Amino acid sequence: MEKIVMYPGDNKKDTVNFKDIQAQYITAVERNVLVLGSGGREHALAWKIAQSESVSKVYIAPGNAGTASVGENVAINISDFQAVKDAVLKYHINMVVVGPEQPLVDGIVDFFKADSDLKDVKIIGPDKRGAQLEGSKAYAKNFMEKYGIPTAKCFTVTADNLEDGVKYLATLNAPYVLKADGLAAGKGVLILDDLKEAQAELKEMLSGKFGAASAKVVIEQFLKGIEVSMFVLTDGDNYVILPEAKDYKRIGDGDTGLNTGGMGAVSPVPFVTPDFVAKVENRIIKPTIEGLKQEKIDYKGFIFLGLMNCGGDPYVIEYNVRMGDPETEGVMTRIDSDFADLLDKCAQGKLNEAHYQASKETSVTVMLVSGGYPEAYKKGMKITGLEDVCPCCIVAHAGTKFDENHDVVTSGGRVIAVTAHGKTIEEAREKAYHNAKLIHFDGKNFRHDIGVDLMNYHA
Ligand code: AMP
Ligand code: GLY
Repeated sequence: MEKIVMYPGDNKKDTVNFKDIQAQYITAVERNVLVLGSGGREHALAWKIAQSESVSKVYIAPGNAGTASVGENVAINISDFQAVKDAVLKYHINMVVVGPEQPLVDGIVDFFKADSDLKDVKIIGPDKRGAQLEGSKAYAKNFMEKYGIPTAKCFTVTADNLEDGVKYLATLNAPYVLKADGLAAGKGVLILDDLKEAQAELKEMLSGKFGAASAKVVIEQFLKGIEVSMFVLTDGDNYVILPEAKDYKRIGDGDTGLNTGGMGAVSPVPFVTPDFVAKVENRIIKPTIEGLKQEKIDYKGFIFLGLMNCGGDPYVIEYNVRMGDPETEGVMTRIDSDFADLLDKCAQGKLNEAHYQASKETSVTVMLVSGGYPEAYKKGMKITGLEDVCPCCIVAHAGTKFDENHDVVTSGGRVIAVTAHGKTIEEAREKAYHNAKLIHFDGKNFRHDIGVDLMNYHA
């Protein structure tokens, strides 16, 4: 059946297929979104998506005790793409948002595109080739070199040219940066002060210190500066720059101790001025998207730019093909417009038509972690005090689950992220810390200095 449609205000006539209208109507009345992942990032994404009036229901697979309060958890292993497919069909999912990098690197987007039942389901994330920007450091470095994107100079080593790598290290000044090429659960980067130690570590990495991930190692020049995480959502052509954030990676106050997945975040970041953003857009974002196009990579998803601000000039330390954690927990609270609609437009290649607005307020996120983390820690500690937290804060669960009594207990190293807003970092910090202290579990640990370095920051 065909219908003639008159557009108001002009004389343009068009024919549309009645079935198309019906399909649009169905998606308008029932829009189900599936978020893949189980951390604080996914809780924050699901929380924000669930606020959209156009979204009927959010499902989270596998989710955690917190995500169950914004949607329905689906107990599947997200590395099992057939199980993801079954869930998509069972729950009439219209859009899938992939939280972590692993399924993207393993080709979940390609799996969807190749499946006749799934090819029309919207999915946020790059295909397998695009995911190499995160999945292979060597690939990312070649890409940056090819498209003139500022990054640390580097040299790639395998067992075949190990001696060249050892010599290359000797041409650099300390500290020495060694990166496993592949995904290594955030542990594949070593920064060493001693040349001999760096040369010995290079050999160990190539002999399997990080398994297959370090069969190839990238040696990098050390960049001195301040780090910032910037987030871009692109449909492969258009892009939106989401709020940036500063992540606090070390376990101890004053940036001491071991690296973690992230102990807190602040957004916005004072040194990310309009001038700095313009440099990032012109030198990094536009050439990256142009490069993806040249490589014929279909990229509809997030690009997380791990940047070093070196005296006002941005350099790419790493690309990630997903949002950051814990940055997302703060970033989502600063998006004032409809996020599900933004993702929907992204998936359709129509990001230029989307409305996007960020709040001017500052968010501070404090991560509560298990005692011992990032080394060995206990699980199953009962979490109390959640109901005492001010509703003005956003509590994103990371490593939590329900036990057999339906109590919320710890199930990971990073447990809960508490985010508060304020007009200033001071105000947001005070609220975030006051409320973070109301939540209890045995062994609870957190950093006390999230945002302190930025309070008196003058560019
Ligand atoms: P990556 O996994 O590549 O983000 O590296 C982990 C961390 O190591 C980064 O967040 C930085 O703090 C640090 N890092 C990585 N590469 C460099 C570099 N070239 N210069 C200085 N620090 C670096
Ligand atoms: N917070 C850094 C990351 O998500 O990789």
